[in-house]
Amino acid sequence: LELRFLVLSASTRSGSLNTRLAQVVADRLAGHNVGTVTANLRDFPLPLYEVDVQEREGIPEAAHRLGDLLRETDGFVIASPEYNFSMPAILKNAIDWVSRIKPWPFTGRNGLLVSASPGALGGYRCLAALRTPLEGLGARLSSGMYTLPKADSAFAPDGSLADESNRDRLAALVSTFVQETEANAHYHKLRQK
Ligand code: FNR
Repeated sequence: LELRFLVLSASTRSGSLNTRLAQVVADRLAGHNVGTVTANLRDFPLPLYEVDVQEREGIPEAAHRLGDLLRETDGFVIASPEYNFSMPAILKNAIDWVSRIKPWPFTGRNGLLVSASPGALGGYRCLAALRTPLEGLGARLSSGMYTLPKADSAFAPDGSLADESNRDRLAALVSTFVQETEANAHYHKLRQK
């Protein structure tokens, strides 16, 4: 059973700490012999969600592409900055658009939430806030969440995590996440038979 994961950065900023963290997670996943697809929300340009826009123009192809990526993979990782103690509007907007696709692409998907911030809490409040819409849409989120505090000084020049305790913490969470996703994928495979 070949597992595939989507690793999505929710920061469109050049030099983003969360995009760097997303790459570290993708590298870590690759160590588990699974397939990974990395993406950035800037690859999914979406208008600000409005019912009138949807009724006039339908669901944008970028929302369908994101929905398809979720459907074609067994699990997803979202690396998101914390904006004002919550999630960035661009991420909530993408979730709102994708939620208009039926059946919901997030339903039944395993998810891992990670965040990097120059601050001392590492974006924890963004991740706590993200659980509400994603679990509402049926995602099976790993109970463990990864935050990288003081992220502006956490990366080595080669892009890896400089600090061993940060590396170990991530390795443990990713390992649990892969096991959860595998168990869930087996369950669905058995049910299909
Ligand atoms: C921030 N930042 C921030 N950091 C944090 O830890 N808690 C917060 O509530 C906020 N709020 C916030 C609001 C806005 C509008 C901006 C632009 C920034 C700082 C943020 O963590 C920092 O800019 C990171 O570098 C953003 O992540 P990326 O873009 O580097 O991935």
